[in-house]
Amino acid sequence: MSYQVAVLAGDGIGPEVMAEARKVLSAVEERFSLAIEYTSFDVGGAAIDNHGCPLPEATLKGCEGADAILFGSVGGPKWEHLPPNDQPERGALLPLRGHFELFCNIRPAKLHQGLEHMSPLRSDISAKGFDVLCVRELTGGIYFGKPKGRQGEGENEEAFDTMRYSRKEIERIAHIAFEAAQGRRKKVTSVDKANVLACSVLWREVVEDVAKDYPDVELEHIYIDNATMQLLRRPNEFDVMLCSNLFGDIISDEVAMLTGSMGLLSSVSMNSQGFGLYEPAGGSAPDIAGQGIANPVAQILSAALLLRHSLKEEAAAVAIEVAVSKALRDGYLTGELLTSDQRNQAKSTSEMGDYIAQVVKEGV
Ligand code: NAD
Ligand code: IPM
Ligand code: MN
Repeated sequence: MSYQVAVLAGDGIGPEVMAEARKVLSAVEERFSLAIEYTSFDVGGAAIDNHGCPLPEATLKGCEGADAILFGSVGGPKWEHLPPNDQPERGALLPLRGHFELFCNIRPAKLHQGLEHMSPLRSDISAKGFDVLCVRELTGGIYFGKPKGRQGEGENEEAFDTMRYSRKEIERIAHIAFEAAQGRRKKVTSVDKANVLACSVLWREVVEDVAKDYPDVELEHIYIDNATMQLLRRPNEFDVMLCSNLFGDIISDEVAMLTGSMGLLSSVSMNSQGFGLYEPAGGSAPDIAGQGIANPVAQILSAALLLRHSLKEEAAAVAIEVAVSKALRDGYLTGELLTSDQRNQAKSTSEMGDYIAQVVKEGV
């Protein structure tokens, strides 16, 4: 049987890091005799340039027919002048999340062995390491709530977004967080702003209710502002962080950077049938696109998550994760992880992909 994967590389560094993920996937297919068929589709800015819209019908149909989506990143200054809903992010990525009801976004952030000194954390804090799983609600909250828009003119012009959460939406993401915690260190930290927001008051109540089904898991609540601060002070005390859409967006960039680079954080966005879109948590990085210096690890680890969650090829997923750990331990690092005096030792995007693919082929 062969698996079908829709590949949507997108814009900026998307195609650069996707090429490396494909190399690593080829290596793992060879080693584990897997048959995966890839079909590439335009998305985001690339689709606007080639077809006049960010999410062409053929791309959506291609995704519908696939077992999983491997996504790069979309967006960039070239398309920022377009009306908001025609831009790559709001015209392609959010509609894809909505269309497939990918409500569950999981972003695993841990400090890799060998990268302790690359973290911006103070050395006594990074020495303790950390392993945080960010569980983010992805199809509700202020991103999707209606009404949303602008009205009035001149002095009277205003804009509005609506934060809205139903009990059901909170319940289903909370169950994911508690189940994940049961397989880890058995602690859920629910992030909210219940001292101000009605949505957060409901969020807290529902999370408390769901917690009753998981007596073995410790639950704590924390306000978003305090959470961003405590993550800098004592990241090793967090296990699963359960977040609404906007708060999870913020927390996941923060934990990514605590690991040393935005280019290390993978992610899966899944629906209740287990269909998933796999993508780096970071974006198209226009500031470094085209230079061959983007870190491909987030894309490569996203491919590992795809093997694990959608294709149920656990051994292949682990082989990739082990190879990435070895590459980082061996000092295979792209430029953004190094200080300016170490930059001459930096590996390029493709050197890093080659090395990881080689380790996957040979085994560690
Ligand atoms: P970004 O994540 O693209 O970049 C933030 C910083 O992280 C930059 O300095 C960038 O160089 C660095 N960075 C990101 N990925 C990296 C990698 N793999 N290796 C090394 N460094 C990396 O965020 P931004 O600058 O706020 O957004 C740029 C564009 O990307 C915007 O159009 C934004 O909307 C879009 N975006 C898309 C996605 C997505 O498609 N999933 C996610 C986030 C942002
Ligand atoms: C992410 C991104 C997206 C988000 C943007 C590009 C719409 O920042 O996946 O974290 O805010 O969810
Ligand atoms: Mn983000």
